[in-house]
Amino acid sequence: MATQKQYKAALVGYGGMGRWHKQGICKTDRVSIDGVYDINPERMDLAVQSGIHTAYPSYEALLADPTVDIVIVATPNNFHKPQVCQALEAGKAVICEKPVAMSSQELEEMMAVAEKTGSLFTIHQNRRADADFCAMKETVESGLLGKVFEIESRVTGSRGIPQGWRQYAIAGGGMMLDWGVHLIDQLLVLMSGHKVTSINCQMYHVAYEECDDGFRLNMNFDTGLMTTIEVGTSHYIQANRWYVCGDRGSLVIPDWSCNGRIVRAAEHQVTWEEEIIQTKAGPTKTMAPRAKDTIEEITLDPDKYFSDYDIFYRNIADVLDGNGELRVKPWEAMRSMKVMEAAFASDRSSQTILCDI
Ligand SMILES: NC(=O)c1ccc[n+]([C@@H]2O[C@H](COP(=O)([O-])OP(=O)(O)OC[C@H]3O[C@@H](n4cnc5c(N)ncnc54)[C@H](O)[C@@H]3O)[C@@H](O)[C@H]2O)c1
Repeated sequence: MATQKQYKAALVGYGGMGRWHKQGICKTDRVSIDGVYDINPERMDLAVQSGIHTAYPSYEALLADPTVDIVIVATPNNFHKPQVCQALEAGKAVICEKPVAMSSQELEEMMAVAEKTGSLFTIHQNRRADADFCAMKETVESGLLGKVFEIESRVTGSRGIPQGWRQYAIAGGGMMLDWGVHLIDQLLVLMSGHKVTSINCQMYHVAYEECDDGFRLNMNFDTGLMTTIEVGTSHYIQANRWYVCGDRGSLVIPDWSCNGRIVRAAEHQVTWEEEIIQTKAGPTKTMAPRAKDTIEEITLDPDKYFSDYDIFYRNIADVLDGNGELRVKPWEAMRSMKVMEAAFASDRSSQTILCDI
């Protein structure tokens, strides 16, 4: 078999995410991350210590190197648009970190440059490969839950917004742009081919005024599916990562370890039972637990699911070879940008936004 071409990539920005691209994500021998530019010289030193050969004196020098095939933009969000456009104009394939831009207007301009230059342009929506998301998606698509009518996706902690640029609006801070963009993307992937018809959102400002330190977003689809996405940074007890309800069963995945369980109606028994249960809150028929023989419980095998993040880089090498299509397309990122803009508009106006996204 002929040896496959190896593509050379260079990073702009060697902070938390730049480091993770080099050390954690890019595992394939089809792409090697060999160059770096960061405005902070100490970060460049760190990059070189981690095995990156070339530290460029400027971004222009990086772009002028003809051996660089791919530029990975991993700087704070407000630098994405100019740096992506510059790299595309220089004829490089470009991977941009999420959120791809500060607004849909910016992304439109970036897409126009990509179209003009014909260069590959993609966005690092790595959470499509998260094990917990894959487990949820597989369960929904298996039909085990019947017709799914509700999905709740939550990421909560109690450590506030991380220090640095994420706390400033001018840099594209706040948790909607940080985590929201991932969780919205996941549900748009799950519901591919379907439209978002309404959006209602409240931003949290528990500890920060300038940027949202969390939010609760309700996003409904044209199938009737209702979804809730919540991100919180002042939540001392973690909420379940996923809670999904269908007309035949429910799924809960408590956290990223994928120790989930499904409880569903037994094949032979789908009728409701008329039994009154006494609780501390009085008698209840509707909310009484089901009798054991009317339900079955399935435990997810956590070892079955893993996060294959390198699939992103393998896909880029294939597309550059001329095989297959991009795993993350710019128009998909545009949908997420539009959902986030509608979410901010809903928060400002305290209104539900009807849409066709
Ligand atoms: N996909 C993911 O899961 C994920 C996770 C974390 C961060 N990110 C994204 O990655 C990007 C970077 O985030 P981070 O957490 O690494 O931030 P960070 O603050 O840790 O690192 C940013 C780096 O960029 C450098 N920098 C700043 N301005 C620059 C410029 N103009 N030119 C060159 N270098 C510059 C800084 O010196 C720093 O080293 C953001 O867009 C963020 O949203 C994505």
